[in-house]
Amino acid sequence: MKKLKIGLVGCGAIAEFQMDALMKVEAAELKAVCDMRLDLAEAMAKKYGVAEIYTDYAEMLKSDIEAVIICTPNFAHCPNAIDGARAKKHLLVQKPFAMDMDEAERMVSAAKENGIIMQAAFFERFCGSLQKLDEIIHSGEIGRPLVIRTQMSHTGIDKFWHPKTEWFHDKKKSGGGPLGDLGAHHYDVIRWLSRSDPETVSASTQSLLENGIEDNASITLKMKNGMMAQCFMSFTTVGPKNYAYERIEIYCEEGTVIYNASANGAPGKILMTKKDSIDFVEVPYENVDPWVGLESHFVDCVLNHKTPVTTGEDGKICLNIIKKGYASAESGKVMKL
Ligand SMILES: NC(=O)c1ccc[n+]([C@@H]2O[C@H](COP(=O)([O-])OP(=O)(O)OC[C@H]3O[C@@H](n4cnc5c(N)ncnc54)[C@H](O)[C@@H]3O)[C@@H](O)[C@H]2O)c1
Repeated sequence: MKKLKIGLVGCGAIAEFQMDALMKVEAAELKAVCDMRLDLAEAMAKKYGVAEIYTDYAEMLKSDIEAVIICTPNFAHCPNAIDGARAKKHLLVQKPFAMDMDEAERMVSAAKENGIIMQAAFFERFCGSLQKLDEIIHSGEIGRPLVIRTQMSHTGIDKFWHPKTEWFHDKKKSGGGPLGDLGAHHYDVIRWLSRSDPETVSASTQSLLENGIEDNASITLKMKNGMMAQCFMSFTTVGPKNYAYERIEIYCEEGTVIYNASANGAPGKILMTKKDSIDFVEVPYENVDPWVGLESHFVDCVLNHKTPVTTGEDGKICLNIIKKGYASAESGKVMKL
């Protein structure tokens, strides 16, 4: 079997999820890891049995790896992606895609110019629960989808999510708080489920805890096909230990379907009702590991010359929602996309 030789840059918190998943992808060969902190690179190489260890990304790019998984902080995505593309490595890039639209444009152009595959790492596309929602609302069973409402929240950076280095609370390094960090996932989910792109965005943010980034954010999107979407993203949602919460509600002409995640990572539930039903009924779905889905898809696209389900262009569109969202929150105006 032909295996894809892969290097990973940024041996922090999210890299663990990606490495765990890559270990389950038969066609993936983890050849190299890189982190500017030698201790983190060495620990990751030891844990996953990776042969090559680098602290200098430029050196890793000289190795015979064919692809790079970019798991560095947001401010490093653009330089890492452009250098990777120029070295003809295929790229899987973490979210949010970049710091600004100029960076995003340069990343997408570098991928095109160098003929490499660039995938935006939106893992929610590979959740069994969300794939089921997609199937339901596009089967016609509950009529035309009209409105999507979402929530993604947790107790905060250093409380729920534990990055290994300091950068999240510095807006110049992260770009901001939950509006971009958590919202990035749901803007992609909304584009996917609605089969449309946003026309306008209005947003507001709240920063009561004064830790450099906003604590909470809400966004309303009017989609080009007439659908509406509303998202709430939070870093202050207190719950039991390791609490994170996700909810996606889709209101259709003939019924409603709701995905409700449970606390502490157990599989969530899908509930559906139709007009004239007595109550909601639970809809079963296959609870697959979305990270394995994400990594397998990337490896398959590279090895078999396919276009990923979310390309750099999709990463760029979601970044535009984030940037216009912040502009709306600051100006109080509805922004056109
Ligand atoms: N998909 C998700 O659900 C999800 C969840 C959390 C974080 N993320 C994203 O993953 C990325 C990393 O976040 P994290 O929480 O793992 O951060 P982290 O601080 O834990 O890890 C980042 C690592 O990158 C290293 N690094 C920074 N610049 C580097 C460079 N130029 N060369 C080599 N190494 C470098 C740091 O030393 C650190 O070890 C961010 O873009 C974040 O938004 C995604």
